[in-house]
Amino acid sequence: MARPSTSYYLDYNATAPMLPEVQESMLQYWQSGPGNPSSLHEPGRRARAALHEARAVAAGALGAKESEVVFTSGGTESISLALQGLLGLCSRPLHVITSAIEHPATLESVRALEGPDVRTAVLPVDEFGRIAVTHVVDAVLPSTRLVTLMLANNEIGTIEPVAAVARAVASNGVLVHTDAVQAFGKMSVRVSDLDVHSLSISGHKFGGPPGTGLLYVRDGVRFQPSLRGGRQEGGRRAGTENVAGAVGLAVAMKLAVDRLDETTRCVRASTAAFLETIEEAGVEFTVNGLPPRSDGTLPNTLNLAFTGIEAQSLLVHLDLAGVAASSGSACSSGAVEPSHVLRALGLPEDRVRGSVRFSFGASIDAQAAKNAAQRVIDIVRCLRS
Ligand SMILES: Cc1ncc(COP(=O)(O)O)c(C=O)c1O
Repeated sequence: MARPSTSYYLDYNATAPMLPEVQESMLQYWQSGPGNPSSLHEPGRRARAALHEARAVAAGALGAKESEVVFTSGGTESISLALQGLLGLCSRPLHVITSAIEHPATLESVRALEGPDVRTAVLPVDEFGRIAVTHVVDAVLPSTRLVTLMLANNEIGTIEPVAAVARAVASNGVLVHTDAVQAFGKMSVRVSDLDVHSLSISGHKFGGPPGTGLLYVRDGVRFQPSLRGGRQEGGRRAGTENVAGAVGLAVAMKLAVDRLDETTRCVRASTAAFLETIEEAGVEFTVNGLPPRSDGTLPNTLNLAFTGIEAQSLLVHLDLAGVAASSGSACSSGAVEPSHVLRALGLPEDRVRGSVRFSFGASIDAQAAKNAAQRVIDIVRCLRS
């Protein structure tokens, strides 16, 4: 089959295209010449000033202080740094609480902590992927030092009650970290609203440069660095900073905040058009997670189950038809592992196996969404015939 000339990228939760303004800011920085922000000479001072400016802009986008920003290489590093950093100086034995639908960056980091003096609780979610605040409170032990919960799920878009959890456990002196990697740029993310001690984001999810991220660590929270070396990033992450990356990340963060309303309107219109087109064609499917258009879910994320079809096969056909989407399945040593998130919702196996995630961004308007939906309809009909 010849590949169609128009293609549709519906995988924004995997990675979003880098914004032209971000590319321009990085290019300008690179063209200004070399400079290590730790050097005392003029090129060093120039790099230091650019890093300082990026930190101020990034902090502003989160409602944080400049001293609370740690630039990292992405979401995975931020999460790992947070868990090790927050727990490193805590007395042991200790206990950590997380949820069953976290990204592997969290689940694997938590698992790696487990040992004779570190116990963990991985809490279940309801059929829509929601964590109950009462479950978290009930799981708190005298030795609980940290709760780490994602703000929004990458596969189904469900938004978690992180602020309510943070307030509910505050009197127990428990630290709270949130993985806001999918939330930032798709909903309002302000550290003062969330009341968390630390928060992770990743540049490439909202138009920033790949390989950039940020960890917010509230002032006054004791933190043990995992990388040893220089005193960069307030002593919380050693190593010469990626200044161009920080510059680009800060520009992307500011634009994401400034354009949030516009982006939300656009992705709401395109997800609605996509769903309506499939519904009107009479193709059978079920929505995984909360109903789209509800407040409790990211406006850009649709996870649809086409029962009776293997998601991998649907994805291959969609790819050939110029539609990029994904499933939450992990591929390990040649075998496809069904999504741990959909399993945690308690869905039947055939629904898990037939589920595909479509995630939208500002470059997909309603007409493009309808066109992409038509390709989905044609392929689903063909695979079911
Ligand atoms: C919810 C969530 N957390 C963490 C990560 C990891 O981020 P990164 O790819 O920047 O390491 C991802 C990436 O898909 C994610 O969706």
